[in-house]
Amino acid sequence: MALTIHVNGKPREVQADAETPLLYALRNDLGLIGSRYGCGLGQCGACTVIIDGKPVQSCDVPVSAVVGKQITTVEALGTDAAMHPLQQAFIAEQAAQCGYCSSGILMSAKALLDVNNNPSDAEIRKALQGNLCRCGTHSRILRAIKRAAKELRGEQ
Ligand code: FES
Ligand code: FES
Repeated sequence: MALTIHVNGKPREVQADAETPLLYALRNDLGLIGSRYGCGLGQCGACTVIIDGKPVQSCDVPVSAVVGKQITTVEALGTDAAMHPLQQAFIAEQAAQCGYCSSGILMSAKALLDVNNNPSDAEIRKALQGNLCRCGTHSRILRAIKRAAKELRGEQ
């Protein structure tokens, strides 16, 4: 069936079964491959996107459930020429090793910083509870998010 979903500020039509995971529609129908397939079971966070301001694991939500909602994927975070402070900070702190988890972590971090630009370590850890990084870059990710928050507060 044809469904219209709103992705990165634009209405986009996808041909999909109502139960198709949003992640598949994003990647396979719309070519937005920044959201990654990790476990497919809602357990790793590699597929995280922001829906109506909240981080959501897109492998775990049917595409029909997001009709009428605003979906933001990592593709809308920034560009090479105009990176989001989170992207700049991840590079500066070398917060990615293989990078497979990075887009999901960036989106969870963005959802946090959009509502709290001065998070504590505990608040950052809580926001990233649903995101796994098997490369063990957690401390660098934490530093990067704090660095981006500082930038967003205009302190560096
Ligand atoms: S692929 Fe969605 S949580 Fe792992
Ligand atoms: S950098 Fe490899 S899984 Fe996180």
